[in-house]
Amino acid sequence: MRPDKHTHDTDASDAAPPVAASTLFRQSAVQGAAVILVLSLAWPYFGLRGTPLPWPETALGIGAVALLLARLSRQPAWWLWIHALFAPAGWAVSRLDIPPGWFLLGFIVLLLFFRGAASGRIPLYLSNAATVEALGDIFRQNKGLRFVDLGAGIASTLVPLASALPDRQFTGVENAPASWAIGRIRTRRIANVFWRHANLWDQALADYDGVYAFLSPAPMAALWQKALREMKPGSLFVSNSFAVPDVSPTEIVEINDTRQTQLYCYRIP
Ligand SMILES: C[S@@+](CC[C@H](N)C(=O)[O-])C[C@H]1O[C@@H](n2cnc3c(N)ncnc32)[C@H](O)[C@@H]1O
Repeated sequence: MRPDKHTHDTDASDAAPPVAASTLFRQSAVQGAAVILVLSLAWPYFGLRGTPLPWPETALGIGAVALLLARLSRQPAWWLWIHALFAPAGWAVSRLDIPPGWFLLGFIVLLLFFRGAASGRIPLYLSNAATVEALGDIFRQNKGLRFVDLGAGIASTLVPLASALPDRQFTGVENAPASWAIGRIRTRRIANVFWRHANLWDQALADYDGVYAFLSPAPMAALWQKALREMKPGSLFVSNSFAVPDVSPTEIVEINDTRQTQLYCYRIP
């Protein structure tokens, strides 16, 4: 039985774990609070003195206050940088006199590739060749026939796997339109790859002997619960780089690549 039709479930909803929306809200609140705080002091101050608002200094002030608020509310380290630089960078870019249409275009292109980052804190980056080779070895040792890559990017994992293991079936699930379209083109003549435009949270896992995920820390706890609910006993869940919190992997495969990739393998009980 084929696990899925070849492609195009175009109505992928965004039933990601709630963490995404709450993060967006939290970070917007930090930046918004900094803007309101600095402007509510700077505007009256310079207004009463009858001098125009000095935008470079104001932008730096907003960055400093946003950094402080982010520190005080214990945001992850990389958010501190974003908060500190956002307003100054915004001011600097506004000086370049770039027509606004370019920003809209850039935003649309980013969204077409990074929809997962906006909706579920899962950006696009690709498994490297050494990792794909190790994954092939893991699946080869695993007797099962069907494997699924949840968040399959541009099919750069599935294309080599399908050619290395022609007797197995591979499904790729991707919801970013541009990545999905590139993957669709790359897999269109590969008989043992089923390429879907769908939300990974809507992908049923019961038919698969192996599930591969290279996502981010954000969805791992919820994804593991989904795997436990849906995957059959004895099947294999492999996560590249991001361990399931508080669950001991059955095995960790260490890849000898520059980033010392680790594949966390969990056998479903
Ligand atoms: C880190 S990339 C991994 C790509 C590929 N699996 C690989 O290993 O090279 C994660 C991918 O998951 C996709 N993604 C994020 N959220 C998703 C969702 N809810 N449903 C389907 N795909 C999603 C992203 O668009 C991105 O392409």
